Parts: sequence; C-alpha cells; structure tokens
Amino acid sequence: MKIKVSNYSNLTANTLLLPIENNKHLKKRLVAIAEQFGLNQSFTEDFTGKHKEILPLYTNQNQPAKLFLIGLGNKPSFIKAREAMRSFSFHNKNRLGDSVAIDLSSINTNLSEAIINGLELSTYNIHLYQTSKHKNHPLKNNTIEAIIDENNHDVSITAIKKGILTGESQKEAFDLVNQDAGHLTPEALGKWAKASGKKYGYDVKVYGKEAIEEMGLKAYLAVNRGSEFAPAFIVAEYKSKAVSNPKKIGLVGKGVTFDTGGLNIKTAGMHYMKSDMGGSAAVLGAIELVAKLQLPVHVIAIIPATDNCVDALAVRPSDVIGSYSGKTIEIIDTDAEGRLTLADGVAYMIKNYKPEILIDVATLTGASVRTLGYHAGALFSSSPKLAKQLKATGERIGERLWELPLYDEFLAELHSDVADITNLGSRPMAGASTAAKFVQFFTNEHPNWAHLDIAGVAFGDSEYSKQKAGKGFGVNLLTEFIKEVASK
Ligand code: BES
Ligand code: MN
Ligand code: ZN
Repeated sequence: MKIKVSNYSNLTANTLLLPIENNKHLKKRLVAIAEQFGLNQSFTEDFTGKHKEILPLYTNQNQPAKLFLIGLGNKPSFIKAREAMRSFSFHNKNRLGDSVAIDLSSINTNLSEAIINGLELSTYNIHLYQTSKHKNHPLKNNTIEAIIDENNHDVSITAIKKGILTGESQKEAFDLVNQDAGHLTPEALGKWAKASGKKYGYDVKVYGKEAIEEMGLKAYLAVNRGSEFAPAFIVAEYKSKAVSNPKKIGLVGKGVTFDTGGLNIKTAGMHYMKSDMGGSAAVLGAIELVAKLQLPVHVIAIIPATDNCVDALAVRPSDVIGSYSGKTIEIIDTDAEGRLTLADGVAYMIKNYKPEILIDVATLTGASVRTLGYHAGALFSSSPKLAKQLKATGERIGERLWELPLYDEFLAELHSDVADITNLGSRPMAGASTAAKFVQFFTNEHPNWAHLDIAGVAFGDSEYSKQKAGKGFGVNLLTEFIKEVASK
C-alpha cells in the first residue's frame, strides 16, 4: 500500500473512507459531509460513530461516487482505531474498488497512524499454501489518496508512513508464525533475516551447527539434539550512523520453530506449537522496522533457532547439560526447552555485546496464559523503571503487558542437587515466574533486563482467520519502546 497526499479539489478516487469518532462534533461533521456531497441529511440521524459501525453512502458524482463512514467509537485508543479500519477494509474488500481515498483531516496524528496501520494489515493474506488463487486485496498494491490536516503536514506524513511500515513488518511476522515448521525451519528463519537485513540495511550473521558447537552454546544445542533440522543461531545488528554512541539495546527472541515437548512429549494442541517462534518473529520484525525507520539507536537481535523434537539422541529428563555461561543445568522436563535456548541467548548477548538494555521475548509458558489469558503478555524485569516504561508503551499502542514477580523464592524452587540449576520448578505453581527466574539466572544480574512471556498473545483467535493465527505482538511494542529510548 502506498499513500499520496491529496485534497478535495484534486481527488481522483471513486471511493472515499471517512473514519469518524463518536464525539461532540459528530452531528456537525455529518451535516458537513451531507452538504459537501449534496446528500439527504437523513443519514445524520442514523450514524452514531460507534466502534466498527459502517455506513455506505452513494453520491451523484464520480469522485467520489461512494463514501464509507467508519465508526471509531468514543475516544478511541490506538488499537480500537486500528481494528475498526482493519476490520472494515478486510470485510469490505469487494466493495472498495481500485481507487480509494481517505479523509484524515480531522483525525489526530496518533490515530492516523493507527488507521493507516489497520488498512495495511487488512491486506494480509493467510492462505500461504492454498493451490487455488486468491485475489489480492484491492489496497495491497495500490496508492491511496490521503486528505490530511495541512497545518500538520509533516507530522501527518510521518505518522502515515509509520503506519504502513509497521504494518508491513507485522505482516512479515504473521507469515513467520503462520508457516509450519517444515517450511519455516531454523535455516529458513535465518534466510528470512538475511534477506530482510539486505533489503533494509542491517547486518545479519547466521551460524550453523559447527559454529554453534565451537561457540559453546551447550544449553541451546541440547534442545537441538533430537532434531532432523540443523540449528541456526541468528545474530542481527543495526547501528545508526546518524548519531555517535547510540544507545545499545539487545533483543533475544525464542525461536523454537516447533515444540513437540521432546521426550516429555506434548499431547493435545501440539499443532499450535508451530507458533513457538513468536518471540523471534517479534524481535526480527522489530529490528527490521527499526532499520526501516532509521532510528538513532544500536540494536542487536539474537535468535537461537531450533525445533524441539523426539529422537534416540534427544536430551533426556535427568541429563545434566552445560551452557554458554559455564553453569550446569539438570533437565527435569524436556518441554521446558525455550528457557534453555534463552539462557544461552542472553548470556551470549551480554558477554559479546554488553547492551545497556536487554529484552528477551518468548512464548515461554502455558502458565503465563493461565494467569493473564489472551489479553496481555507477562512482564518481568530487574528494573522497576524499565518495567514501567515497557508497560506504558504497551498500554499506549494496545500491546498490553502486566508485571509478575521475580521473587528469590522462585529461584529456590529451581534447586538441583547435582547441577547448578534445574530447568523446572519443583512445584506446579507460578510457572511463568520460575521460568523467568531461570532466564534471569543467566543474565549475570543485568540491571536493565526485561523478559516478556508472550505465550498468550503471540498466536490466537481473530476475526481474520478461522483458526488461530499469528498476531504480530511485539513488533510495534519493541519498536515504539526503542524509539522512546532513542529520544531520551
Ligand atoms: N512453548 C511452550 C509454552 C507455550 C504454551 C506456548 C502454550 C504457547 C502456548 C513451552 O516450551 C512449554 O512447553 N512450556 C511448558 C513448561 C513446563 C514443561 C514447565 C508449559 O507451559 O506447559
Ligand atoms: Mn516446551
Ligand atoms: Zn516451547
């Protein structure tokens, strides 16, 4: 989707979208629309501007011939505005025609970004492997005419661009999650990162099995022992040249391309575990977006990609394994594999890059889903300030986080008699916290570390697919957070 700034005297589109808030100006706005397009005023009684309300209107002219009033609701949040537009455009694709304009002149820049982001996301096509062809969404490769507030020209354009660029990277994240593990192997994830890095100007290295062995990433390698697919250790780095000494932020994403559970094999719902690389989709989507936006920062993203499979060579419960940090781990449950990959990911990041801020993102525990459901990711942090900032960013853009504790008592539950730590808490309680505590054990007491357990929000139901699908959670959150860090 592309955008061209326009105004009513130059409009060439046949279809005009009018996103409308339900506020005290509603009636005046509707009357003005009736007068502008010579319409009977009766519709101004009907349309209330409530969230996702749609009213098509037809004019007696050609540019535009068709109007869609789209309700955003009262004081819409970023996510409400985005979803109103995405839902409208997704469900009405056959009525849009191929020349579309949108009037953003009475919408603030924050909501303008959300609205354009929603339109971009509406063009996503989930039918990756269907043999019958699907028509592209009419907005997909089209240029939309945008009528903007001319007094706010530059900020409006920036917001619109951000909405599109974010949507594109979120759609990439959808694709990564929605692909099955036979297609999205660790190597394929590495290839994706390489191609993205090449396209948007950031550096990507992908290490294969031998290199990973040489590096001593033993906990991560243990997860890969039962796998037919070679691991891929992905290290991506974007460094702005616009500023000297930009803030250094490390991101580590869980990239388990499929989680069978290993020898502690999963039963029901295993097919959902193609989404167990949702953390890596968030992290890779974010570094791509940061690079596209050319933010004045230094970001390093690390993905220890592997699947977790069953085989004669697979790691066993009771095995004691090593790790990059040198610490030993007693495996209690092979299904607690994500934390093993993260342990090496964060330790490698800290030792080799010394980031000022370190965030890991992972679909780590079912316990986090049982605690917070599908509406917030679990947040853990060694820094109350960092936690507060991440939570506020998430609230603002509609990717919610809720903080859970990292009490030392949780570490005591990870006691091993024979090794430095076990990979599973001794009690079946507070599983998200014990998992977070395990990861923290490998952060060398990093003062600005945060862990986002996104098991409940990375993949889920939506009105855009019948089965669960990737949500792109984290792409905008991490990027917005990084943008804020850069501006301080
Ligand atoms: N990938 C799962 C966590 C998960 C669960 C993600 C549901 C998405 C939805 C993780 O590797 C896992 O298996 N966790 C176990 C941990 C347990 C063995 C301690 C879990 O949560 O059941
Ligand atoms: Mn698992
Ligand atoms: Zn997993």
